[in-house]
Amino acid sequence: MFQVTLEQPGDGPNIEKLLDQSFEPARRQRTAYCLRADNPPLAELCFIIRQRGLLCASIRYWRVMIDGRPPALLLGPLAVRKICRGHGFGKTLVSHSLACATDLGHEAVLVIGDADYYQQFGFSRSLAVELTLPKPATSGAFLACELVAGGLSGRLGAVSAT
Ligand SMILES: CC(C)(COP(=O)(O)OP(=O)(O)OC[C@H]1O[C@@H](n2cnc3c(N)ncnc32)[C@H](O)[C@@H]1OP(=O)(O)O)[C@@H](O)C(=O)NCCC(=O)NCCS
Repeated sequence: MFQVTLEQPGDGPNIEKLLDQSFEPARRQRTAYCLRADNPPLAELCFIIRQRGLLCASIRYWRVMIDGRPPALLLGPLAVRKICRGHGFGKTLVSHSLACATDLGHEAVLVIGDADYYQQFGFSRSLAVELTLPKPATSGAFLACELVAGGLSGRLGAVSAT
């Protein structure tokens, strides 16, 4: 059994270690980091899974602007400890956090990630096609999801940090 809980301030160092182990050493050069700038993540949407005292998985979200207008959400990073993969931790964190984001009134979420993974949650390339990133991302990896119908309609232009 595992439980999803909100990230606590003391979890930061262990999450950084998990991210270092889950992504390549140059992860901070990724396009998504430009969009996070020096802003903190959204505390109410940062969740972890701990099992037998071990931090096994983490998901975080940031606010971003589209064409300088009120924020959408940027999902990520999402990471599951290697020995914990394939047991639904990632899916649980994404589904739970998207449901919370909807309850909090957010309308749209962007992600730069693996389309084969994120499409199961409703993310698609077509919803992001009118949006541009501050620097190139891996081809086909820029995806968006509407939390409410039409949440991205008429939203086009540059995505930037808040
Ligand atoms: C990608 C990652 C978060 C998946 O976490 P996980 O807990 O192993 O995944 P889950 O067990 O929740 O998988 C849920 C479903 O997605 C599938 N899946 C898992 N990884 C996948 C991938 N890379 N591509 C496509 N599908 C994938 C699983 O088979 C499973 O399918 P099912 O529900 O039909 O059984 C994890 O492998 C990871 O941390 N990777 C390194 C960092 C990373 O790539 N982060 C996300 C991209 S930014």
